[in-house]
Amino acid sequence: MKRNIFTDREALARFFGDQLVQLTKENEKVNVALSGGSTPQVIFNVLAKEYADKINWKALHFYWGDERCVAPEHQESNFRMTKEHLFDPLKISDKNIFRVKGELSPDAACADYINTINKELPIVNDLPQFDLMILGMGDDGHTASIFPHQIELWDSTNVCEVATHPESGQKRVTLTGTVINNSKEIIFLVTGSNKAEKAKEILEKTGDYNSYPAFKVAPEKTTWLMDEEAAKLLK
Ligand code: 6PG
Repeated sequence: MKRNIFTDREALARFFGDQLVQLTKENEKVNVALSGGSTPQVIFNVLAKEYADKINWKALHFYWGDERCVAPEHQESNFRMTKEHLFDPLKISDKNIFRVKGELSPDAACADYINTINKELPIVNDLPQFDLMILGMGDDGHTASIFPHQIELWDSTNVCEVATHPESGQKRVTLTGTVINNSKEIIFLVTGSNKAEKAKEILEKTGDYNSYPAFKVAPEKTTWLMDEEAAKLLK
């Protein structure tokens, strides 16, 4: 497992942007699954402002590792956040966007997303394969929308599952560990001091690391991009 630590989120965003420049130079099509939440917003803002002409955006086909079961215009929609901070500023074509239809019932949205993924992605090891999986980590050690109280979903043989947020009860559609770990490459975007404790436990295998879904992400394919705040407790 590789790890890069940056002074701040903007420096991290530029490193990530340079990765995408390279990836879209080398591949005419890159299937990427994005994470949601607040961390990506700063990164998307830098990409939209500084990488509009550097990255071959037409090569990128956008999916999500998880989505809240809300309408696409809802304040909590990961699609809405990405549309506002990345797609609209860069005029990304709808043809390159494959969102979870959060306006459907959770089960229907999950089934629809599984169909889309199976139809659009190459099958490798008998599973759909993303070229690049972007993940965030919650301060409880969750990733995508697989939370510690439902850690068994990680090993589901389904491509996606319907999960439940432990506090709000909000339903989410999430990729499972089976598909996440089948990705060619995985990047964790982890910033902020509220992630420092879990990052230390997971990266140094201390405390309850084994109970965190984020620990189950395939280390041999994963690079952690962290800011100094999130890395402050590491040896
Ligand atoms: C989501 C995510 C989730 C997120 C982490 C970190 O839909 O919320 O995909 O896994 O990446 O909760 O979220 P923050 O970046 O907001 O801390």
